[in-house]
Amino acid sequence: MQTLRFRLDGRELDAREGETILEAARRHGIAIPHLCWRPDLGVAGNCRTCLVEVEGEGRLAAACHRRVEPGMVVRARGGRAARVRRGVLELLLAEAGGALLRRDSELERWAEAEGARRDRFRPDPWPAADLSHPAIAVERGACIRCTRCVRACRTVQGHDVLGMAGRGAASRIAFDLDDPMGASLCVGCGECVQACPTGALAPAGGAALRQAKALTDSVCPYCGVGCQVRIH
Ligand code: FES
Repeated sequence: MQTLRFRLDGRELDAREGETILEAARRHGIAIPHLCWRPDLGVAGNCRTCLVEVEGEGRLAAACHRRVEPGMVVRARGGRAARVRRGVLELLLAEAGGALLRRDSELERWAEAEGARRDRFRPDPWPAADLSHPAIAVERGACIRCTRCVRACRTVQGHDVLGMAGRGAASRIAFDLDDPMGASLCVGCGECVQACPTGALAPAGGAALRQAKALTDSVCPYCGVGCQVRIH
């Protein structure tokens, strides 16, 4: 396999042919924020939290998508890219409404690491949660539309229950034909919960189970993947 040399934040590094800036940085233990990318889910390029500067180019590049080229000089720390990434994270915090279900979510961790302020933008209105599923709660207000749950449902589990509905600001994750999650074909495997970087999809726990009028079948009762509730 051919190896390329490039510079990232002043360090000369090697990259494998076809590797992206983000993949090469991670292999060398260098942290660049990322939310919509996960190694097993492919590139979506929609969150823009991984922006970096490539010397000689006016536009910022998405590190999850841009392949390393020989001699490339990349700046991730400081400068314009870091400022823009911080702003993106502040917008995502506002979009997620400042009331994330998981306080240790990936969005929270990256926001803290990048010095993003929670109070810079007014939070979006918080829509009602979908608690129709006995195992998984859907807090649409915390969703940043990264589509990781959609890709995890399809490519990891092969279930194809999750998709996107609507356009622009009205776009949202949808179950089957935009049904309540509890009325969809979701089997409660928890893969989407594991994939969600904000806590918009989270184990429902006892509250939703108490609300549920009937128990439901699941492929993985007590599977440990995400739901961690016993359902029948
Ligand atoms: Fe690169 Fe989302 S991680 S655009």
